[in-house]
Amino acid sequence: MQTLRILLAVLALVFLAAPMAAAPAPAGAMVDNLKTAYEGESNAHARYVAFAMQADREGYGEVASLFRAAARAEQIHAENHAAVLRRLGVVPVVRVEGPVVGTTRDNLIAAIEGETAERDRMYPEFITNARSAGDANAVRTLTWAWEAEKDHAFLCAMALMNLDQLKGSRAVEYYVCPGCGHTMTKEQLAACPTCRTRKEKAERIV
Ligand SMILES: [Fe+2]
Repeated sequence: MQTLRILLAVLALVFLAAPMAAAPAPAGAMVDNLKTAYEGESNAHARYVAFAMQADREGYGEVASLFRAAARAEQIHAENHAAVLRRLGVVPVVRVEGPVVGTTRDNLIAAIEGETAERDRMYPEFITNARSAGDANAVRTLTWAWEAEKDHAFLCAMALMNLDQLKGSRAVEYYVCPGCGHTMTKEQLAACPTCRTRKEKAERIV
């Protein structure tokens, strides 16, 4: 039942409206937001690497592949956020916490909670703020991450729904856009719909 509730929440919110314009915001808040996003993405990368190892230990090869692909995507988001911070004259600093690792089922639930929070609250708020500040670079990096978190929330929800069938599965191919972190299954591989990077440049993750 918990799985069903999570899945319904994910599916109901996949097609969110674009963040609304808001009153002008001070650039200082935008920098703080970029720092928060940078730290969040850096920690998500570490968390997904650990989740992938746990999935392999439990014999969920396909889920391990998904976590490795998500880890690479989060790393790309962190690098993109850091590049914008440097252009603003800010040295990116991050403290990576030791990830809390449970069973693969627990880890998928935690991943969905994290991705949906970023998708539904954090990134829409940060993008609106960056637009108000008039910073195109910040808007772009935050929007690219926001788009990829939608992918991750959906893919993790699918994995959770099918987890029983994935026991004993082997690693599978995922593809990650090196520009924005857009995450695709082998069947979905195409030019990136977010940043238009050609499909030949997508990184193969297994
Ligand atoms: Fe992309």
